[in-house]
Amino acid sequence: MKNSAKPILEVKNLVKKFGDFTAVDGISFEIKEGEILGFLGPNGAGKSTTINCILGVVEKDGGEIKIFDKNLSSANRTQIMADVNYCSAEYTLPWNLKIEECLLVYAKLYGVKDVKKRIEEVLDLLELGDLRKKFIRDLSFGQRTRANLCKALLNRPRLLLLDEPMASMDPDVVDRGIKLIKKIQKDDGISILYTSHNMWEIEQVAGNVVFVNHGKVMAQGSPLDLTRQELELEAKEPNLREVFIQLSRKSVSGEENEG
Ligand SMILES: Nc1ncnc2c1ncn2[C@@H]1O[C@H](COP(=O)(O)OP(=O)(O)O)[C@@H](O)[C@H]1O
Ligand SMILES: [Mg+2]
Repeated sequence: MKNSAKPILEVKNLVKKFGDFTAVDGISFEIKEGEILGFLGPNGAGKSTTINCILGVVEKDGGEIKIFDKNLSSANRTQIMADVNYCSAEYTLPWNLKIEECLLVYAKLYGVKDVKKRIEEVLDLLELGDLRKKFIRDLSFGQRTRANLCKALLNRPRLLLLDEPMASMDPDVVDRGIKLIKKIQKDDGISILYTSHNMWEIEQVAGNVVFVNHGKVMAQGSPLDLTRQELELEAKEPNLREVFIQLSRKSVSGEENEG
């Protein structure tokens, strides 16, 4: 990825409140074309809420979201979302449908043109061709992750939001998933916002990382820069796990929190 690459997603001073509680408190970051940005933070930090605002499924209370250089307003949301997709282990496809039925439904919803061809392509890519007649309810965790990714790639998105796509998957599934995501990024130049609590996963895929807590950005940079900034100036290798622990224990003002 070149430094001159243009931003695909720009989030500026994003604010989201639920009643009196401010879940997202002025978050800003951007993703350049072809970049995978790790989006990290403890449970409740405001990551999913941020993603929901980017998807426009939750209405923001302040700030600006630009996707493909366009403001995400209700007027152009449909046009923008045609090139965006989302995947999370938290949401599964309809249990009573077979994989290929699900893909057909979503392809129709997305207005995919060459439906049959595209379904074959994503099934092939995710190595799910042989399982196409299986019901979602009968799939293993790993197979379900791949089916979710199939759905998320159907519309050939330019921006992919992955909110813990491989949560509670075994290391083999995660390893395969990562290889695949890297391949998609390389072949199609997709920009990806990638949330995970598995720091190894993030170190494998993300060029840069944004760390949030209490709805605010606490730090951002490459995994190695963050390691040097938070742990050890001379570090040679990234250690996001320790960085995560350090940053999670800091309050927003920079003081250490008691457990
Ligand atoms: N619909 C909602 N109503 C009230 N509070 C919410 C809602 N969604 C999220 N929250 C709260 O906002 C905070 C951030 O949640 P979330 O964005 O899901 O965090 P993360 O994804 O980083 O774990 C949490 O304290 C959560 O309880
Ligand atoms: Mg979340």
